[in-house]
Amino acid sequence: MKRRPLLAGNWKMHGLRASAGPLLDAIRSAAREVPDREVVVAPPFTLLEFAGRQLLGSGVALAAQDLFWEDEGAFTGEVSAPMLREAGCTYVIVGHSERRRYFGETDEWVGRKVEAALRHGLVPIVCVGERLEEREAGRTLDVVGRQLRAALQGLDRDALARTVVAYEPVWAIGTGRVATPAQAQEVHAFVRKTLSELGGLAEAIRILYGGSVKADNIDGLMREPDIDGVLVGGASLKADEFARIVRYRV
Ligand code: PGA
Repeated sequence: MKRRPLLAGNWKMHGLRASAGPLLDAIRSAAREVPDREVVVAPPFTLLEFAGRQLLGSGVALAAQDLFWEDEGAFTGEVSAPMLREAGCTYVIVGHSERRRYFGETDEWVGRKVEAALRHGLVPIVCVGERLEEREAGRTLDVVGRQLRAALQGLDRDALARTVVAYEPVWAIGTGRVATPAQAQEVHAFVRKTLSELGGLAEAIRILYGGSVKADNIDGLMREPDIDGVLVGGASLKADEFARIVRYRV
């Protein structure tokens, strides 16, 4: 089954209007050259509306970096799925390892967030991935399997089909140490098998790789059969790098 490649940029806590404007222009032009691919940008909350206006008519989709599972209420500092919809988002990143590590997100929270995103018509990009000590102990597939089941169990086939999974080994994020295409492919194939066990039409679900993706390693990654796209951090803030990633060649 043909899955539409998805190239997503996660800006993390970077970006003010002055720098975002030129970057969004560059992303717009790069995306125009590759209409067979989907391009997604995840700026911080404060730039969502601004980015939405800049990207109007470009086909580039807008993502938030997180959400809370309640629709509204006394939850100071949180942002809900209906608010993200109104701000123009169609995607939302859920369970990024930085949220798990610095803000105490648990597998259970990730599951609730995924459910809330889908209930409101947002596509969740669900992040999973092992830490270095887990990989070295040979526990990568156990950890990834547990995270996937916690995030996705109970979803019906339709909901699973709308979900995107991002495999992001923690030891590769922001370290310059990218997983080899073969290392990533091994885990992606396992993710697809697990999605099928969870009741999903696994061949239709997109699985992204994330962790030190750059202009000079994108082509090799995208050649792997189960890598359907990438979630890019640092390199998504540099217009030329991200444009080259969007225009990868296999
Ligand atoms: P990086 O981040 O590309 O800077 O390694 C990836 C991510 O956290 O999604």
